[in-house]
Amino acid sequence: MTPARAAITRLTVTNFRSYEQARLELDARPVVLTGDNGAGKTNLLEALSLLSPGRGLRGARLAELARIGTDAPWGVAATLNVGEQTHELGTGSDPAGPGPGAGDRRVARIDGNPARATDLGEHLAVLWLTPQMDRLFAEGASARRRFFDRLVLGLDPAHGTRSNRYERALRQRARLLQEGRADPAWLDGLERELAETGVAIAAARRAYLERLVAALALGTDAFPRPAIAVSGLVEEMLGQASALQAEDEFRRRLAASRAADAAAGGTATIGPHKSDVIAMHAAKDMLAERCSTGEQKALLISLILAGSLLTGAERGTTPVLLLDEVAAHLDPDRRAALYDALDRLGGQFWLTGTEPGPFRKLAEKAQFFAVRDAAVSRA
Ligand SMILES: Nc1ncnc2c1ncn2[C@@H]1O[C@H](COP(=O)(O)OP(=O)(O)OP(=O)(O)O)[C@@H](O)[C@H]1O
Ligand SMILES: [Mg+2]
Repeated sequence: MTPARAAITRLTVTNFRSYEQARLELDARPVVLTGDNGAGKTNLLEALSLLSPGRGLRGARLAELARIGTDAPWGVAATLNVGEQTHELGTGSDPAGPGPGAGDRRVARIDGNPARATDLGEHLAVLWLTPQMDRLFAEGASARRRFFDRLVLGLDPAHGTRSNRYERALRQRARLLQEGRADPAWLDGLERELAETGVAIAAARRAYLERLVAALALGTDAFPRPAIAVSGLVEEMLGQASALQAEDEFRRRLAASRAADAAAGGTATIGPHKSDVIAMHAAKDMLAERCSTGEQKALLISLILAGSLLTGAERGTTPVLLLDEVAAHLDPDRRAALYDALDRLGGQFWLTGTEPGPFRKLAEKAQFFAVRDAAVSRA
């Protein structure tokens, strides 16, 4: 069955990054944003990325998102169209601030009602590729983990809640260990929570990986296929034991590592927050990190396309894809292949670039906007 297309049909940003206010009226077709360096293209994609759980495509702290020079709250609002349905999604800093933790709290609204940021994921899946991700395979494990967890979240909205619970318990345990206030019952409780949510996270990653491998096999030939694996203690436990056994074992290992964790600053040294994602260029049998810049980009494109295919097929709704500066770096054949692949996915995708040239092939299919000094107009 063809998935329903999720499309943003209106986007408003207020006091967000370089924007005082901007409003885009759209239809469901793909969107192309062009403009000079610093005009505000990536800022708009970042605003869209915040309509899903997490910290958005720059991984920014909330305080960075507010427009410099104003104390007013920032906000992003959008109309989401899915098939016959329309939803109003919104997010921003807490207008009730300043106060304790203000600027640190992101609030969300769905159809006018207060919601949690994690609830946004029930309505909309957003996936992205940015120039910063060009170094994903070469850099530390945390960026790869975030990338993979974002893909999982696109299919399984509960992954965000799970991860939040896990992170919270991890921080609380670290604080107790740092303070040397080793109340064993309290630590036991936190470790039980870590074991339960940690195993759920690892299980969701494993389940996703299996589907992703299948989706990659169905994907386009225009981009090299990655072979991909998740490597981590709890993920590996689940390869050999039931979820309950893995929970017991993980909990036991956490309890046994209290002293070592305390000595190392508090944060647990084992768990799914330490897992890594290993990618290979399958045809070349070469680790992704040893591939050329262009090959690494192509592997990421394959992953994003396969993830989108999977989300569309299994959730019945396409994700919104944000592809920042992707087109300009591809040769014309690859670019045409990307547009074809995106077209087949059938969802709304957003492309940015400094020049309209690379988007000429989309002239009939997309809607074009010019971004200039934090103002947007139809091009
Ligand atoms: N919190 C903020 N308040 C005000 N301006 C900001 C804030 N954060 C970022 N900016 C500015 O927003 C401007 C636009 O940034 P953006 O990354 O969207 O540009 P861009 O159009 O994507 O450019 P490029 O083509 O170079 O990628 C930058 O000049 C940046 O300094
Ligand atoms: Mg940019």
